[in-house]
Amino acid sequence: MSINKQEFIRRRERLMEHMEANSIAIVPSAHEKQRSADTQFPFRQDSNFHYLCGFPEPDAVLVLIPGREHGEFVLFCRDKDRTREIWDGYRAGPAGAVEYYAADDAFPIDDIDEILPGLIEGRERVYYAMGKEAAFDQRMMSWINTIRDKVRSGATPPGEFLDLDHFLHDMRLFKSAAEIRLMEKAAQISAEAHVEAMKICKPGMYEYQLDATIQYHSAMKGGLEPAYTSIVGGGANACVLHYIENKQKLNNGDLVLIDAGCEYQAYAADITRTFPVNGCFNPEQRAIYSLVLKAQEAAFACIAPGRHWNEPHEASVKVITEGLIELGLLKGELEQNIEEASYKEFYMHRIGHWLGLDVHDVGDYKVHGQWRVLEPGMVMTVEPGIYISPDNEAVEARWRGIGVRIEDDVVICKDGYRVLTSAVPKQVEEIEALMATNKDEGAQASLL
Ligand code: GLY
Ligand code: MN
Ligand code: MN
Repeated sequence: MSINKQEFIRRRERLMEHMEANSIAIVPSAHEKQRSADTQFPFRQDSNFHYLCGFPEPDAVLVLIPGREHGEFVLFCRDKDRTREIWDGYRAGPAGAVEYYAADDAFPIDDIDEILPGLIEGRERVYYAMGKEAAFDQRMMSWINTIRDKVRSGATPPGEFLDLDHFLHDMRLFKSAAEIRLMEKAAQISAEAHVEAMKICKPGMYEYQLDATIQYHSAMKGGLEPAYTSIVGGGANACVLHYIENKQKLNNGDLVLIDAGCEYQAYAADITRTFPVNGCFNPEQRAIYSLVLKAQEAAFACIAPGRHWNEPHEASVKVITEGLIELGLLKGELEQNIEEASYKEFYMHRIGHWLGLDVHDVGDYKVHGQWRVLEPGMVMTVEPGIYISPDNEAVEARWRGIGVRIEDDVVICKDGYRVLTSAVPKQVEEIEALMATNKDEGAQASLL
């Protein structure tokens, strides 16, 4: 299962149809990043670059030149190199770029200074995302200056730099059938990994052991990389929104929040579940958890084509604020609490974000100053939460340190939405039942 060559070709064609007359687009790949002496971080391709050609190597540059007689898609990439390939691995080389990635023309990256100015020369406009990478910006300027230096010999430098990202990101926001299949797979693998973490969890384990469980079960099914650094927060650690230390012991009587998802063929899943370390919610935990679940249900009820992006958020704010007042965690009237945003003491993030090649995927949330209207093919997360700081002296002690988030991934369909991550239980009874099975199995195993 993957994105086929034809789909990459269609994407490039659509982008080129959108480009203005007599223009050129230049998109660099990602680079390897050093982690420590002689070791690198795992390489992750730049999402825009990947979206346009699927070429998996670093140190490459994609160039689109609509109407170019000798081919519109030019790729610069690392040359074949027997020694480097023995040490670092296979390279497609320019010939492979043409054969396997449908490049019309391909050149060694080391020749880019000689060749690219000639491709730019005579084009009036350059589509390039300036400001992302200082070193590449400088090279771009040096190529333009190379052309400027030849003006007296009749060369025409481009007069305009244009933003490519806006249109490209809008394309990425609408997922194709093939993309949705990959996202379903990422979601399914991640959901199953969450179930395994729930099953194995018991007091005395460490947060990193749940993380390891998630990574192991994801990788075993092809979700080889996490889509982001996992958050595994026991007890009050769940109140730190981006807690990634994951080193503490999980205590009897606490909740644990796991926010983790794998990448499958570069597409992300993003799931959060919160459950009791010992398998049973106490009354306060149950009250907060049930409220977050109710907020999520209210948000789902606002997701359909034609509804706008902020409706699910507004619905979740209303339910959470109402519930917090009922529980005595907020005082006063609903309207006033919403107006003054006092709920933000407990619910300080938004309901979700677009999901795709990036976990916080690209795409505008407002169009012409108005919230974006949901349309089929968009994929988003729905992730309300309540976090009661352990230091919050304005609330009774029994509530302090409880942090709950529930996060699912949904695709907008013609007639509503489809949840991609429903394989992980989230009803209180389902979670307790699953964790009880686990305990029974554990007890039986210890008798053998
Ligand atoms: N995992 C990051 C997020 O939920 O947005
Ligand atoms: Mn998320
Ligand atoms: Mn998340």
